Amino acid sequence: MTAPGISKKRLLAVCGKGGTGKTALTAMMTRVLLDSSNSGKLLLIDADPAMGLPNALGLKVKRTMGQVREEIIKTARGSDKEKKAKLASMLDYMVMEALYETDSFSLLAMGRTETQGCFCPVNNLLRDAIETLSSNFDTIVIDGEAGVEQINRQVMRRVDTLIIVSDATSRGVQTAALVKKMVRDDKVIQCEKIGLIFNRVRGNQELLKQAAQEIGLDVFGYVPQDENIASYDLVGKSILELPVTSPGLAAIRHIVTDHILK
Ligand SMILES: Nc1ncnc2c1ncn2[C@@H]1O[C@H](COP(=O)(O)OP(=O)(O)OP(=O)(O)O)[C@@H](O)[C@H]1O
Ligand SMILES: [Mg+2]
Repeated sequence: MTAPGISKKRLLAVCGKGGTGKTALTAMMTRVLLDSSNSGKLLLIDADPAMGLPNALGLKVKRTMGQVREEIIKTARGSDKEKKAKLASMLDYMVMEALYETDSFSLLAMGRTETQGCFCPVNNLLRDAIETLSSNFDTIVIDGEAGVEQINRQVMRRVDTLIIVSDATSRGVQTAALVKKMVRDDKVIQCEKIGLIFNRVRGNQELLKQAAQEIGLDVFGYVPQDENIASYDLVGKSILELPVTSPGLAAIRHIVTDHILK
């Protein structure tokens, strides 16, 4: 159910070539959404096993979904019948335990998976539990990897808006084109809207716009190279504390207003 005063539920995922700024942009979006009055209850999902998002937000996560998954696999393999029988009913609770809650938002870190091999039924059960958990939130933002397979396999089967981040390089744009193909042609994940954000932009906006047109993607916005972001990252300061006047934050504010909270 959507909280009173909130126009609708929003499910967003961020992906794109490695190192283009997915985590920094997710953290800045968090800041802007928290400043906005109609984003409602906010859930962040760090779907990158490297877990950069808690770091960027200055949080120390204690438990990950990867750990929950390990426990489930161990219990399912063990001989304790009673525990096994209880497992299904405990799933939602176990996922709740991995939820990191702050005063203003919640975060779920997927973390790493140690056990090798395919455990599709476990993944499916956990994904269902994450989807159930998400239904208690109004805005959900997933910080992903380059592609969308892992989001579909472990986090959600559908998103409303997919945000692809690219830097001002042809490899960044090529990765964006590949992700678009995965979604539109190969249907790797269900998704209504796809948009491109160019990050660390230093001019060349016309050329970037043209490159996006060539691959058939709408540009949600251009985020400039912002020394505040780089220096906050360097000293481990939370992106949530960026100065209001930060140029990167101003660009994200426009993107959120025009394309996300619309
Ligand atoms: N607009 C920006 N201006 C300056 N520095 C930036 C900007 N956006 C990101 N950075 C810096 O670029 C680096 C990579 O950013 P980030 O970690 O967000 O990328 P990522 O796409 O999440 O990477 P990964 O694929 O490893 O998860 C970081 O050091 C970050 O501080
Ligand atoms: Mg990242």
